[in-house]
Formats: sequence, structure tokens, C-alpha cells
Amino acid sequence: MKSINWWQTTLKDAEIEAVVHAMRDRRIGMGPLVVAFESEICKALDVPYALMCPSGSVALYMALMVHGIGPGDEVIVPNRTFIATAHAARLTGARVVLVDCNAQNTNINVDLIEEKITPKTRAIMPVHLNGRAVSMDALTPLARRHRLIVVEDACQALFSQTQGKPLGTLSHVGCFSLGIAKLLTTGIGGFAVCHDQKTWEQLARFRNHGVSDLNHLDYQSLGFNFKVSDMTAAAGRVQLARREQRAAHVTRIYHTYVTELAGIDGITPISVNTQGGEIPIYAEFRSPRRDALLAWLEGQGIAQHLLPPGLHLSAHLENDGLFPNSDGFDREAFILPCGPDQPLENIHVVVEKVKEFFAGQFMK
Ligand SMILES: Cc1ncc(COP(=O)(O)O)c(C=O)c1O
Repeated sequence: MKSINWWQTTLKDAEIEAVVHAMRDRRIGMGPLVVAFESEICKALDVPYALMCPSGSVALYMALMVHGIGPGDEVIVPNRTFIATAHAARLTGARVVLVDCNAQNTNINVDLIEEKITPKTRAIMPVHLNGRAVSMDALTPLARRHRLIVVEDACQALFSQTQGKPLGTLSHVGCFSLGIAKLLTTGIGGFAVCHDQKTWEQLARFRNHGVSDLNHLDYQSLGFNFKVSDMTAAAGRVQLARREQRAAHVTRIYHTYVTELAGIDGITPISVNTQGGEIPIYAEFRSPRRDALLAWLEGQGIAQHLLPPGLHLSAHLENDGLFPNSDGFDREAFILPCGPDQPLENIHVVVEKVKEFFAGQFMK
């Protein structure tokens, strides 16, 4: 029996050669290849400043730190996100204030944000989950009215667009991940983008122990070692050059599932607006019979994956309030096999197995 992973991504010969080349050239620290990656990202996302760093989590943390967020502050975070968003805020010393998601998709319910704003609120972190745009048209004026910093978590939304603009470029700082289960990968990696030189300089200093010039250790501000090597940047540049194919492939996978499973009662896509430029990196669905379906698929050699749980379930975070929409996704949501290098033939196998399950002959 063929086994199918929930996610498939590969670094191919071109990435391997680029990394070996960097090593042979002794480009093993942070140097010109990181600068080249950053300038290619600026072009690709049409932003003036980009800064590579070790991960999306670090990008989020740095974005908050350079805006002076810390103890005594509150940061508004969606209840549904990978926990990195909340941990970034919590690690600054701020209090995390959670907001429930929409009923129809996992993104933050923007209508619920204002009631969570207090005199201590300093920042909002909209998370564009699975390429879906949080409505920045609604969120930005709200943040302006309350003088809040907005840090977009676009870790799952690289190159997704809303109204022709890339997600992650619509706020003070946008943060992206180059982790394994992302559109582009360097294995582990990430970067931040911003619009003003001052923020970029603060981020650059923070990345290197508060030093602005490597040749003069002028410790100007707080910081840490959040540098990246040219070897990582070398792989990232090759991935970046392949972004269109990778985006097209995950979108094709999403559409194949949506079309093929459309007639089945009991399984619904958590939809992504591909017409509007959103890129569904994950094939997310929901079903009231999720657990039985996933057990059945597992038995067929098809790996399943769940969405990260609602953050109110994490005892170490502040978790007051009710999150009914989020709870619904915890009960019903899941991800079918996908990924930029997942063969389409695997998707067809999964589709057939899902159809068999819902046809009933294997149900108890
Ligand atoms: C929404 C979201 N935020 C942040 C992160 C953290 O990114 P990284 O794994 O690169 O630290 C991820 C990664 O899964 C993510 O999905």
C-alpha cells in the first residue's frame, strides 16, 4: 500500500548546488547572499526593506521588541494561529489578549477586536492563515484610531494578495516563515519586511546584539544573535526563483480537492479566495465526521494533519473568555495531503479514498 505524507516539499539539485557553492566560497556566515536574498524579497513583495532572520517566530518577536513592547503592555492575538504569534508577544513580557475567529474561516474576527482594546493595548497581530487575508481595510483604521502597532503574521501567506497587494506588506512589520511546511523553505528560516528605514535599522541592530556596524562593536541597543548564514540564503534564493511554480502547484491541489469533493455531503473546504490572489498552502477542510474519516485514511496509508489547537486551551497563556467559533474548528478541521512537491497523483488517491469513506461501505 502506498503511503502518502500530509506535506511534501523538497530541496532539489539547484538548492543543493547553491548551498555547496556558498560553502566552497566560504560564505558560511551572514554576508552578501543574505543581502541578495533580502533585496530579491523587496522586489518580489514590492517593499523597500526586508531582513532575513532565523525563523518566522524570531521575526515576530523582533518586530514587537523594536517597537518597545514589553511588561505592562497588552497585545491582541488571534486565538487561532500557530502558537508562535502568542509566544512572540508573551516573550516580550506583554500580556496576550486572545480574540476568537470567524465562523466561516479560521482568521481573526475583526469585529471582536475593539471590545478587547484597553488603555494597555499596544499592538495587534493579524494572522493571515493559510493565505487568507484578514481584512486590513477594517483593521488598519481601528489600529490607527487607537494608535496601535500592527505586526502582520504572514508566515502562512507568502505571496498571497488582497486587492493586488501582498499580505504582510500592509502594516508596520510583516513577518514570514521559511519553515518546512511553508510555500518556500530553507528548512528553517524567516524574514521581516517594513516600509521605513528607521524600523529596518532597529531590526538590523536587534539581529546582532544592538550593533549597527560589524567592524565597530558599538552596542547601541538591546539585541541578540538572530543572524542567518549565507548558506541558508543561498537555498532561499533558489526557492524564491521557483515561487510561481510552487504557488501554482498548491493552488492546483486545492482546486482539485474542492472540485472532486464538491458533491459529498459531510466534508466542506475552509475556503480560500484564490480568485482574489490568495494562495492556499494547505488543503483545509472540515467535517463533523472528521475523526472517523482521518482514522480511515490513516488505515489506507494516508497521513492526516490537524490545525494547531485554539490557544485558549494552552494553560500558560491568559485564556479568559469563550471561543465558540475556534472550538468548532478544533472539533472538525483537518488538512488533507498537500504541499508544493506533493504529486497530483497522490491527491487523486486521497480523493478516491475520501469518496469511498463517504460512500459508506467502510463505515461502522
Ligand atoms: C501562523 C504562523 N506564525 C508563525 C509561525 C512560525 O514560523 P517559524 O516556524 O518559521 O518560526 C508559523 C509556522 O508554522 C505559522 O504558521
